[in-house]
Amino acid sequence: MTFKDQIDMSRLPGHVAVIMDGNGRWAHKRGRERIFGHHQGVKAVRKTVEAAAELGIKFLTLYAFSTENWNRPDEEVSALMDLMVDSINNETHTLVEKQISLMVIGDLSRLSENVRNRLFETMKITSEGTRMTLVVALSYSSRWEISEACRRIAVAVKEGRLNLEEINEQTMSDSLTTSHIPDPELMIRTSGEKRISNFLLWQLAYTELYFTEKLWPDFGKEDFYKAVADFQKRERRYGKTSEQIAENS
Ligand code: IPE
Ligand code: IPE
Ligand code: MG
Repeated sequence: MTFKDQIDMSRLPGHVAVIMDGNGRWAHKRGRERIFGHHQGVKAVRKTVEAAAELGIKFLTLYAFSTENWNRPDEEVSALMDLMVDSINNETHTLVEKQISLMVIGDLSRLSENVRNRLFETMKITSEGTRMTLVVALSYSSRWEISEACRRIAVAVKEGRLNLEEINEQTMSDSLTTSHIPDPELMIRTSGEKRISNFLLWQLAYTELYFTEKLWPDFGKEDFYKAVADFQKRERRYGKTSEQIAENS
């Protein structure tokens, strides 16, 4: 029996987020440059997007480049940016065909004009896609996002559009880049690292975390199904007792 057969299609996670990690180590193991690993990583992206869309997942968020990744060697950063533009160019028609809309979260002001324009173009072209929203976190970090949200809320208060008493969890959620996206139910990280690396700190508050040793370029559809099947075996208690959960189900 494959992992796909184990999945209960009526209880799919609405939003899956992925930290795609391990490209460099994958390349290193083969005596190749890190960028070779990033190129192979694009294939894993394609498989994961396909697997998620075919299952019927509504939101898939992929962590592609963090704020901290700007500190990598210039050569790697620029190779990653080129790869990003090429991949977007190559995949736009597939996204349209599969009715997947692209959304990007992150500090886009730090991207080159070319990369930014490509992203905006693809977001526009794919905007009709209603099957799944593919959210790419690019030049993203959660602390950057939360600081920006605080600034936005402070400005609203200063300008009299919002009262101090009105600030609550909802105001905060609504001020994040993910305001129109439900919180992830499942977060997958590859490569064996067990940390969040500044990814969706607010949104992951009650997310089920799944870690796998697989390096990102080796991650395939079965690995995605396996993570979803594992997610479905868990009891999500949200602070309640197991008995309370059983009573309500
Ligand atoms: C993930 O792979 C891709 C990005 C962060 C852009 P890494 O490049 O972090 O690969 P490792 O962790 O060094 O193996
Ligand atoms: C996290 O991976 C960021 C992305 C996958 C884009 P890193 O490889 O940058 O994370 P750390 O530095 O090992 O925590
Ligand atoms: Mg890494």
